[in-house]
Amino acid sequence: MNPTQEQASAPAGWLVTGAGGMLGQDVLARLAAAGERTTALDRAALDLTDADAVRQALRHHRPAVVVNCAAWTAVDDAETREAEALAINGDGPAHLADACARTGAVLLHVSTDYVFAGDATTPYAEDAPTAPRSAYGRTKLAGERAVLETLPDRGYVVRTAWLYGTGGPNFVRTMIGLEGRRETLDVVDDQRGQPTWSADLAGLLIELGRGALAGTAPAGVYHGTSSGETTWYGFTREIFRLLGTDPDRVRPTTSEAFVRPAPRPAYSVLGHERFAAAGIEPLRDWRAALTEAFPAIHRVHEKENPA
Ligand SMILES: NC(=O)c1ccc[n+]([C@@H]2O[C@H](COP(=O)([O-])OP(=O)(O)OC[C@H]3O[C@@H](n4cnc5c(N)ncnc54)[C@H](OP(=O)(O)O)[C@@H]3O)[C@@H](O)[C@H]2O)c1
Repeated sequence: MNPTQEQASAPAGWLVTGAGGMLGQDVLARLAAAGERTTALDRAALDLTDADAVRQALRHHRPAVVVNCAAWTAVDDAETREAEALAINGDGPAHLADACARTGAVLLHVSTDYVFAGDATTPYAEDAPTAPRSAYGRTKLAGERAVLETLPDRGYVVRTAWLYGTGGPNFVRTMIGLEGRRETLDVVDDQRGQPTWSADLAGLLIELGRGALAGTAPAGVYHGTSSGETTWYGFTREIFRLLGTDPDRVRPTTSEAFVRPAPRPAYSVLGHERFAAAGIEPLRDWRAALTEAFPAIHRVHEKENPA
């Protein structure tokens, strides 16, 4: 502990912010399964925009590792409400980093592929230049910078993308719903990325946290996405296959046919060199993960949409 840190008992255990979100729920489940002592704080328990509350929470719980799963994730809404998004995605992580600097905690902060321009043709390295094209991407980049600047030795930024799981609305659940209502479905085939199961990412975050505590994983930027790559069209075909229906009901279209308020990156494939260098195996191929994740996501859909 350096002299600027607050004097108190040694940090121990894990603290998860944004614990009610899709990723937060999976991180909690994985930590519970691993028998880790964990404090779960959802938005009602800790609003990250409240700097004093963040500082008090860290001082009170004294975790060894903080996993920040809280975020403004409404990508299109951020275009017209950037200041509100920035308060959560930029200021929130800054408050957390400041509090971690005081207590000595490691901070694992989750970020996004949207910090990149999306015009590359080979996977983005962790140190590739950032150039967000959307308000959401700008706010997330502000959060990354705050964490890395305030915690050069204990700040970890884990960029993920195309996240799906059981604990919230996401592309897989949307496509399961649409399959039941439409004969054919037009899906964009000109945006490439890596569908990533939130439970897989949760496991990776825990490994990274352990690596941080053990001193084997250096602080900095990591990419937490599945291996392999596909398009939204290819992703949807795989979802249809797992539903046991004809993937040819999915038809390729272009981004021009689906204009959204926030521009989407055309190429969101991220490289995983830093995990490999830290001795942590990068996430498995997206198809294998989706195959394992699918039954539980399907069950959630059926429960919420009884026939
Ligand atoms: N989903 C994706 O495809 C995707 C892709 C790339 C990166 N990511 C990143 O992955 C992380 C997890 O995303 P997710 O999909 O799990 O998102 P999510 O389900 O929307 O969860 C985000 C959580 O943050 C909470 N939150 C919002 N504002 C807060 C505040 N001021 N203080 C405390 N908590 C607050 C939300 O609470 P309320 O629901 O009550 O608002 C929600 O529970 C985020 O950093 C996101 O940027 C996600």
